[in-house]
Amino acid sequence: MVPVDSGAAFHYPRAGMALNFQHLTSTKQLSRRDADAILQHARLMERYLKEGAQEPRLPGKILAALFYEPSTRTRLSFETAMLRLGGQVITADGFQFSSLYKGETIEDTIIMVNQYADIIAMRHPEQGSADRAAAVSKVPFINAGDGPGQHPTQALLDLLTIERERGKIDGLRIAMVGDLKFGRTVHSLTFLLGLYNGVRFTYVSPKELVVPEKVTSFLKEKDIAYEETDDFNAALACDVLYMTRIQQERFTDRSEYERLKDSYVLRAKQLKGKDVSVLHPLPRVGEIDPDVDALPNAAYFRQAKNGVLIRMAVLDMLLQRGL
Ligand code: NCD
Repeated sequence: MVPVDSGAAFHYPRAGMALNFQHLTSTKQLSRRDADAILQHARLMERYLKEGAQEPRLPGKILAALFYEPSTRTRLSFETAMLRLGGQVITADGFQFSSLYKGETIEDTIIMVNQYADIIAMRHPEQGSADRAAAVSKVPFINAGDGPGQHPTQALLDLLTIERERGKIDGLRIAMVGDLKFGRTVHSLTFLLGLYNGVRFTYVSPKELVVPEKVTSFLKEKDIAYEETDDFNAALACDVLYMTRIQQERFTDRSEYERLKDSYVLRAKQLKGKDVSVLHPLPRVGEIDPDVDALPNAAYFRQAKNGVLIRMAVLDMLLQRGL
């Protein structure tokens, strides 16, 4: 482990701790050692930023940020991370402005972008698109969200936030609330937290939006304790309350979305006397009242900040790997 808190004169290692993979498409591919190493590297990146980043870590390297689905935080934090490391960014966003819209396959797009960039982050509306992209990419590929599938860097920044807010991960009671069916961050984070000891899950959703079978079968297989309920009070009794938005864009029936969209709304008065950390991948669309923001429980903006550190760590580790 790198001793991040020791002494003033600090040597930043050129190479991060080695990851034994080239592409990051899913949290299911991570071991606990990988997750701990990425968190450790994120703390190193924080120190690197605080101390004025004397020497760029990735000079001359180019990140291609391909965003074929709306994004603000994820795209901006990937771009910020690359720029902070001294690299550069090229961007394609908006499906209708891209060659995919003209009918180009994901594979062709990725092979083509391989000719320009040293690393790729892609968001795409189709579940499974990340695996298809990684299968043909010679440069490191990072899944920045594939439809209702996975969003591994979000889960890693959620993990860092949980560790920072609670001082540990093992043994925590984690509640996830909202759209557990389509919320890819819920799926990714469950697989990641499942690597830690004694973590228990409480899933709170309307019955139409329960966690998919791929998540429950994982929990059963790993013998991880979990409950499913539609009672919001169960979530308030946990250590971490992970709120999510109802994913409007995944519904085929608009009236079903309208019926479900206000299922759970967290207000400051519900948190009175409660020692629960509130996280949200954001954007929120009404499920956390702004009156929660001033409470110490509200961790979601600190969570967004941690996103830059995690993405710096992942970019740095995947790119230094080949040096
Ligand atoms: C999440 C996503 O895109 O899956 N947002 C994000 O990455 N910060 C959650 C969401 O869109 O609801």
